[in-house]
Amino acid sequence: MITVLFGTESGNSEMAADDIAEFIRENGEEAQVIPMEDCDVSRLQDAGLVIVITSTYGEGELPETTQPFYDALRASRPDLGALKFGAFGLGDSTYETYGNGIDVVSTLLNELGAHQVGETGRHDAAKGVPLSQAALDWVDRLLPSLSRRAA
Ligand SMILES: Cc1cc2nc3c(=O)[nH]c(=O)nc-3n(C[C@H](O)[C@H](O)[C@H](O)COP(=O)(O)O)c2cc1C
Repeated sequence: MITVLFGTESGNSEMAADDIAEFIRENGEEAQVIPMEDCDVSRLQDAGLVIVITSTYGEGELPETTQPFYDALRASRPDLGALKFGAFGLGDSTYETYGNGIDVVSTLLNELGAHQVGETGRHDAAKGVPLSQAALDWVDRLLPSLSRRAA
């Protein structure tokens, strides 16, 4: 089971999460989508494999529903040594702090011992690529390593 966690301000990250989970299921793995604000961080270490998706808001800040997840992780600092994660960020390259949100969350997960699988995927709202396409291209590249590690 791959858990797709999303944090968002205006819903785009949720759409990306749904697309990514659907693609994973079509490719024979189980996937569940969970909003970050509903994630019990004390149980994250048992999740095995998660895909973390977040946008960036304000001036390089975390969006509304990523912030509580991040704060809870930073406060409780669980040992995530058994956790593997893929990371996908949404942003807009007209901002100086392009895509900062996913980097902030990934850095904390790494600090807590989690191991990143593959490269961080990104969607740039300033470019013409549709969000679904960017998300699906990324998970398509990632899926072989996710499957290997999930087995
Ligand atoms: C008020 C506002 C501030 C934003 N600030 C940033 C930013 O600092 N860096 C960035 O990369 N993108 C920024 N963005 C772009 C969003 O991250 C992008 O539109 C994203 O697709 C939103 O996803 P969401 O609906 O999941 O929150 C900002 C967008 C808005 C509307």
